[in-house]
Order: sequence, then structure tokens, then C-alpha cells
Amino acid sequence: MKFGYFDDAKKEYVITSPRTPLPWINYLGSKDFFSLISNTCGGYSFYKDAKLLRLTRYRYNNVPFDSNGHYYYIKEGDTIWNPGWMPTKTELDSYECHHGMGYSTFRSSKNDLSAELTAFVPVDDSCEINKLTLTNNGSAPKTFSVFSYVEFCLWNAMDDMTNFQRNFSTGEVEVHGSAIYHKTEYRERRNHYALYAVNAPIAGFDTDRDSFLGAYGENSAPEVVVTGASKDSMASGWAPVGSHHLSVSLAPGESKTFVFVLAYIENPIDQKWVGRPEDGVINRAPAEALMARYDTTEKADAALAALKEYWDKLLSHFTISSSEEKLDRMVNVWHQYQCMVTFNMSRSASYFESGIGRGMGFRDSCQDLLGFVHLIPDRARERILDIAATQFEDGSAYHQYQPLTKKGNSDIGSGFNDDPLWLIAGAAAYIKETGDYTILDEMTPYDSDPSKATDFMEHLRRSFHYTMEHLGPHGLPLIGRADWNDCLNLNCFSTEPGESFQTFGPSEGPNAESVFIAGMFVRYGKDYAAICRHRGMDDEAAVAEKAIADMEKTVLDAGWDGEWFLRAYDHYKNKVGSKECEEGKIFIEPQGFCVMAEIGLKEGNCLKAMQSVEKYLDTKYGIVLLQPAYHRYHVELGEISSYPPGYKENAGIFCHNNPWISIAETVVGRGSRAWQVYTRTCPAYIEDISEIHRTEPYVYSQMIAGKDARNFGEAKNSWLTGTAAWTFLDVSQYILGIRPDYDGLVIDPCIPSSLDDFTARRDFRGTTYHVTVKNPNHVEKGVISMTVDGKDVDVSGISGGMIPIALADGKKDVNVEVVMG
Ligand code: BGC
Ligand code: NOJ
Repeated sequence: MKFGYFDDAKKEYVITSPRTPLPWINYLGSKDFFSLISNTCGGYSFYKDAKLLRLTRYRYNNVPFDSNGHYYYIKEGDTIWNPGWMPTKTELDSYECHHGMGYSTFRSSKNDLSAELTAFVPVDDSCEINKLTLTNNGSAPKTFSVFSYVEFCLWNAMDDMTNFQRNFSTGEVEVHGSAIYHKTEYRERRNHYALYAVNAPIAGFDTDRDSFLGAYGENSAPEVVVTGASKDSMASGWAPVGSHHLSVSLAPGESKTFVFVLAYIENPIDQKWVGRPEDGVINRAPAEALMARYDTTEKADAALAALKEYWDKLLSHFTISSSEEKLDRMVNVWHQYQCMVTFNMSRSASYFESGIGRGMGFRDSCQDLLGFVHLIPDRARERILDIAATQFEDGSAYHQYQPLTKKGNSDIGSGFNDDPLWLIAGAAAYIKETGDYTILDEMTPYDSDPSKATDFMEHLRRSFHYTMEHLGPHGLPLIGRADWNDCLNLNCFSTEPGESFQTFGPSEGPNAESVFIAGMFVRYGKDYAAICRHRGMDDEAAVAEKAIADMEKTVLDAGWDGEWFLRAYDHYKNKVGSKECEEGKIFIEPQGFCVMAEIGLKEGNCLKAMQSVEKYLDTKYGIVLLQPAYHRYHVELGEISSYPPGYKENAGIFCHNNPWISIAETVVGRGSRAWQVYTRTCPAYIEDISEIHRTEPYVYSQMIAGKDARNFGEAKNSWLTGTAAWTFLDVSQYILGIRPDYDGLVIDPCIPSSLDDFTARRDFRGTTYHVTVKNPNHVEKGVISMTVDGKDVDVSGISGGMIPIALADGKKDVNVEVVMG
């Protein structure tokens, strides 16, 4: 069942019922100011950091699920309704929510009155604009009221929801004309406040929640809205809110538009300002300047048009056209859009991540880079260096850092031994995309301490050597607290019932080893060696190449289980992910990574591993993480078996590693199977089962419940997942096969034999490549000829064809024709 449809021309998903299985959200904002917005106008805003500078309050884990947002109540006679249906849930005569690129539009109507609400964050301003147009579609004049409503968060979202003895007494506001200023915390910090304003005279306002809602009131029926009269309340402590009352009259057929702004204002002391911040007096000048930028419909429309242009331009760097409508839709729009959102959010703020738990993940952000580097290379460069600056001097890394301070998070600390290698992955992707080796010269701190800086190349060296020098009893990399699989904690020992697992200290080991990290070491080690060679560090390259060769041998000796790659060895040197195990005999991760690293490709291990994945891990909704699921708690494995069978890392369909298998299938040349793996979890291809899948049909979720779960096929944790980057990489670089490399652009498709021709437009290092791929013989892989602007390119030797940079020769456009066979 569907709850809407894709509008490809407008790059929108149009939701046609407010009763989606779960709130279906969108993200507004592309730089500093962000809002989450659901299909019923739920959500909240923050500036840079969802924990520390949150503008509006949201109640996670509430009833109903999506509670609190930026709401507009329309009161005509006794009928009160919202353009987004919530929170009154008044039945609407019509409803549509259009989630587009950085904006959401709601179109709804009730009793011949229609509302069109567009919410967006302008490209270059720290505010959310809400443009509300009301139209009288009836034959009689209408007079009605509109009440706006936001509930302010007292900035630090954690404190806001826990420290009531303090924060019930800190709230302060000012109101000047149609502008409401939320200035809690201003006395102390003296540099920021929030503004909520409308570009029209108001009939009244409220800033105190209890006054607005009424004692024991609810936002489904605020007292002020029910009675139709604002109270002009001034919040003093308790819960500051912002509500404007607009009294509107419309002749038949007439429309009126109002522009609301919700802004974050940072407010350096300027000459003309006569207030004293320590007395809590705010400098309104920057707020007034901002309001003036959006005080007419035309100005708001211009900002919206600029936003659309920004997205059109961004998404023009890579586009395709094929006979597969859903493929085109995902590649041209939604994959890349989700990659931009994961770039902005990492794993911090979604409807499943509260914005207070996690900052930017080291491994997560490095992987996200793989998906957006072609879109915004400059910001990718900055991001890589920010991440690297949180690394420790020995090459290990803080697992997370806070976006506002950019400092490592010491609550979580380090010890995830895959982290350092992801830095090499991110750096290699950046260099392959841009050819910019100067990043390697950037002086980059360790542990955010500038006195401990080296060039970035040295960071990569320490990353590689950290893994190389932390090997376990079998010569495989030590896993530490965990590798990519956060829940596979193998340095654990038993505890009494009632306690969770304990971790061995350094003196007791830790011994546990990871075959997955070995795969990463081989795959990204090759990049490290290539970068060293390019830099003339031949001795170091030779050291790396030798270590990689040794590791490949070690994996084939100690990491191969006969039919697939082993997952790991635990602290007691027992195998994990082996046919010898009682449960958890085969895991997905090492099959993906060891095959991507081509370990045992010639010997046949790779194909065998792929066949085993298909045989043991496949389901109709995607590939599960492991089989058989853990049915009892295995304390020596850590968190993994704390999940019931079929959920999350315990045999859920973890979407993130499905593209690893799809890419791995392209390594062994099985295009039809790579395609099947891609489409099984791909949102556009499973839109029809939205009632089972339940999360948004336009983006990936982290996890789909596996076949062992009661709710097989149900997804959770939408939006913020490494799946976004990896799937885009999979489909663009490995299935369609258009892949940046150090010295040129490789074209090496691996597609289902049924797919014929496709074309692609790809910007790469200043040239636009117009690529046509033909598949006349219906093969799955292999390029027999390639021409660049009519000239033949030699395609023997390497897989696919490489267009050397020199061939583009500084041209703005080149035409590439590729024939598969
Ligand atoms: C989840 C993992 C996640 C980790 C983050 C675990 O509970 O299952 O998916 O990576 O928390 O800390
Ligand atoms: C989600 C985390 O953000 C990511 O870092 C981790 O690799 C996966 N879960 C798997 O545990």
C-alpha cells in the first residue's frame, strides 16, 4: 500500500494522507540552521548543534508519537484545523504534504478555505521561513483567525528535559510589534536569542505556554484558540512559547499570504546598541535586519527560488537516464539528497536519534563522505580535516565529536579499532574525486590540540600503522571495543544475572580479533600505498604493500571457514561466525569487505563467499546480518544478543551492509545479483509495501526487521544511516560503474543483463562527461570499446575503461561512448 507518490519533475514525494504509518519527515537547512519537519508539521529547529543550541522543543517518545512542531491553527467559526492536520486532527477536506529538496509544502482545505504552507530554510540565512497563503474558495466573504505556535526550547536540549528546578525559572521574552524574542540564557551568555515574527500587524500574541494552552490544556485544543482571543501573555520562567494572532478577512476568491520567520540571532555588540547585555537587554538590530530581508511575499519567494536553484545545481553534478524510472529517481534525487542530510546530521538528530545522544561519529562521518564528496568537495575537505583533528597521537580515534566544539567526546572515548582506517577511506575518496593532494600537507592537530599537529599525511600513516601494530594471536587486527558492528563486543566476560557484560582490561588481553578489519586493512591499505607512491614515499609504500600481502595470506589461512569468511575470534580465541558455532555461523560484514578487498579473488574464495551469502542470509526484504540469529544471550559476544532475534545487529536486515554485498557482487562480475541486492532494500522499489516497511519510502532506514523477527519487513531508524552513502556508491560507481580514480574516470558497469543502454552526465575535475553506455549483447560486465570525443581508448588491461585526465584535456565537455560485451 502507498500513502503518496513521487513527483519526479518537481523532485518531491507527495504524501496524500496525514495518517502515514509513522511520521514521514524531511530536513530543512543546508549550512547552520536546521529543522526537522514531519508530514503533520511536527519537528523542531536548531542551530549547528541539536544538543546545545536547540530553538524549539520536541518531545521524543511521546504519545502521540509526533508531538510538538511549528503549528498554525485556523479558527473559522467553531471549526479549528491545522494545515498539517496535527495537532487538532480535525478531518480535512483535502490534504497533501510535498516533501521536496530542503522545503516542505502542505496544501489542505476545510470548508472552502484552503491553506498552502511552505516551510524552508534559505540558503544563506539562519532562519526557517513559513509562508502561509490562505484562499477563500467559497462564494461568501470569510473572516477567521490564524494562531501561530512554537514552543521554545531553553537551548541546551538535555538540560531542557531534565533540569526543571533551574529551567522553570530562567525563561525570558520580549515582544515588539509582531516580533517575539526568546532570550532565555541571554543574561549569562550575552550572544544569542531566537526570533519568531510575522510580516503583518497582529491582533494579539502569547508567550507563556500555560496562558496559551490553559491550565491542564493541550496543544490539540489551546484555550486561546478555542476562545479566539490571545492574552498578550509575557512568559516569566516556566515555558516560553511564541504565538501570533492574525485576524483575516477574505472576499470570495481572494488570497492573502503571510511570511513567518523563526530565526537564530547571534548578536555581537555593535556601536549603535545602547543596551547592557548583562542586564538581559538584547540588541534587536540584527533581528530587524533579518526581518527586513523577508518582509514581503516576493522576498520569501525569491529565497525559495534561490533554494531550488541551489539544489538543482547541486544535483546536476551526477545524473542518469535509463529505462528504469525508479533507478533514475533514486540516483538523480533521493540517494544524493539523503547523502547531503547525513553529511549535515551525521547520526545526531532524526525521529530516532534525539539530537542529544550522539554528535558526529568518526567512522560514520568518514563513510558519509563517500556519498557527498562529488557534491561539495570543499566542505568534504574541511570535514575530513575536522575529523582528523580529533584523532589521538597513536593513530586511534575518539569515536565521536561534538559538532559545535569539534572536540572529541570523552564520555565515549576511543577503542573502536576500525575507526582509523575509515579516515584513509575518506581521504582516498576525496583525492580520487578532486585530484587535490594538497590536503595531505595541511597541518592537522591531534586530540584538538594545535600544539600537537602534524601534516595530514602523517595522520594517514598513523592510522594505517595503528592497525598494523595491533594484531592478535592469529595475526589478524585486534578488534578493541568493537569494529563497524558496535554490538559485537568480543573482549567480554560473564557477569551475574542483573548485570550487563564487563570488558576485559588491558592487562587481560584484549585478544579478540576482527576479520572485518582485516578486509578493511587490505582494501584501504591499497589506497594508502597508492597515496604514498604518489607522494614519493616509496619505502613507506613498500612497507604497506608487504603488510597488505601478509594480511591477505593471514585472512586466507586463519579467516576462512571453508565456505565463507569468518567474522572474528573472541577473547578466548573461539571462532565467531563459523560453521562450528551453535548460532551466528555466518556474518555479512566480512563477506562484503573481504570480497571488496579481493582477498582470494583468483582462488575462488570471493565467489564462494557470495554464494554463501545468497544461500544463508538472503530474504525477500534484503540480506540479514547473520544467521542463525542468537536466540539466547551470549555474554562473551557483548551487546549483540541483547536484541531479540531479527532486530538490529542480531540478524536484522542492516541496510548499511547490503550495498557492500552488492558491490562485492560486482567484483565477482554478477550484475544481475548486484542489482537484485540493490533493489530489494531500495526505497523507490519497495514503496508499494509502505504499510509493512512503515518508514519513509523516499529514504533508507538503518534497519529492516529480519526473518526471525515478529515484524519481518518493518523498518526503523530512517534517514541517518551509512546506507545513504554506501548505496549511492554502489549504484553510481559499481553498478553503473562510473568511478573516480586517482588518474582518471573509470567506466566499468556491472548491470543486469536485461538492462540496455543508459546515459549519464558526470562532472569530474572541471569537465562534464556525457557518457553513453550500450549493452547490445546483454552482458552483465565487461567493456569492449570506449571512445572519448570519437577517439578510441584502450580498454584492455584493466576492468572497464579508464578515461585518463589528460584525455579530457581541460575541456568543459567530453562525450564518452562505451560498449559492453
Ligand atoms: C546500536 C548500534 C549503534 C550503537 C551506537 C547500539 O545500541 O545497536 O546500531 O551503532 O548503539 O552506540
Ligand atoms: C550505527 C552506528 O552509527 C554505526 O557507527 C555502526 O557501524 C552501526 N550502527 C552498526 O553497529
